Parts: sequence; structure tokens; C-alpha cells
Amino acid sequence: MLLPLLFTISLLFSSSAHASVLDFCVADPSLPNGPAGYPCKNPAKVTVDDFVYHALGIPGNTSNFIKAAFTPAFAPQFPGVNGLGISIGRFDIAVDGVLPLHTHPGASEILFVVEGTICAGFISSSANTVYFKTLYKGDAMVFPQGLLHFLFNSGQTLATAIASFTSPNPGAQVMDFALFANNLPSAIVEKTTFLDDAEVKKLKAVFGGTG
Ligand SMILES: *[C@@H]1O[C@H](CO)[C@@H](O)[C@H](O)[C@H]1NC(C)=O
Repeated sequence: MLLPLLFTISLLFSSSAHASVLDFCVADPSLPNGPAGYPCKNPAKVTVDDFVYHALGIPGNTSNFIKAAFTPAFAPQFPGVNGLGISIGRFDIAVDGVLPLHTHPGASEILFVVEGTICAGFISSSANTVYFKTLYKGDAMVFPQGLLHFLFNSGQTLATAIASFTSPNPGAQVMDFALFANNLPSAIVEKTTFLDDAEVKKLKAVFGGTG
């Protein structure tokens, strides 16, 4: 009675002691990404460093037009999250800095304010209802998947936040970049946004667009 039981238990332990492709699928970012994520790296080549990410402790460079930086720890940077439905990243937003309206087509997001003061909000797709709030150190806010949202520093010091995502590849589409950072002809931007020519030309110059 006891012997078969011990045998069964030892079998369970010995099989779970070997890492299998069912335990994880560490990304091989050299291969193309697909709907299920990246293909798996050979499990024999996986090391603990695939499951560890260091750069979240390093402030991003906010010397740019938006005065903000996002440091992603998505599957390409943090291969261990591939296939697990999660990822993380860091925001640094200087005084007056902003993350313009954007969406993550593939993920909901939770933002956690580590330092400073951030005004954050999102807009519902059904009724275009706006939900925004000033967040202080220790506050968290959730942005539902796919909805337009924004962040800006509403304090007098650098703001830092950690964001977690419900996908290893959340994707991001920034509204201003989509409209003004590419070669979509100004006439079409004006037609489809009701903005006037001067404003479109001004914003294309700011964001580096042509046409
Ligand atoms: C931050 O970015 C600016 C603009 O690209 C660059 O000139 C500067 O050297 C960068 N600073 C650091 C510390 O990397």
C-alpha cells in the first residue's frame, strides 16, 4: 500500500524537476513574433537571467519632446514573460512631461505611482466618458484594454511609475504619432479629423511627419 504510493510521489517529483516546454516558453526574439508570442528558445539554453530584468531600476531619459520615457520589459527585453500573459515597464515623466493619448491594443494596464504626482485618465469607447484622476505616490490606476489613455506630470518633481500589462506584447499606438509622425497626406488628416491646415502642418513639423 505504502510502496506504490511512494513510487507515485517520487515519479511526480522527478518529472516536475525537469523544466519542460509546458513550464515556460522563453522568447527567442530573433525569430518573428506571432499571435501566440515568440517561438520558444531551446529550453536547454534557458538561464535564470531570462527570468530576471534589471533596467526597471534605471531612470529613463526624459530629454525629449514629450519630456517622458517609457522603459518596457516586454517579451523582447524580458524573454521570460513570453507566453505568460504578463509584462511590466517603467515610466519617468519630468515636470511638464506627458505620455500623449495612446492605446495598448493587446493589454489592460495597471499603473502604480512610485514617486511624484501624475494626472492619468482614460476614455471609454462606448460613451466617450472620461475617467481621470490625480495620482500620488502609492496610488494605482487601471486602464482597460484598448482604451485611449494618457498620463502627465502634474507635480513639481520628476514622477516615476511602474506599469504592469496583461500581455507580454501589449503594443502601443500613440494618437499624435499616428496622425502627425508619418506620411499621411495633410489633406486626409484634415478631412478625417476636422483640424485646420495650419494646425496639421504645425503638428506634422513637431512630430516629424511629412505630406
Ligand atoms: C538623453 O537624450 C538626449 C537626447 O537624445 C541625449 O542628448 C543625452 O545624451 C541623453 N542622456 C543620457 C544620460 O543618455
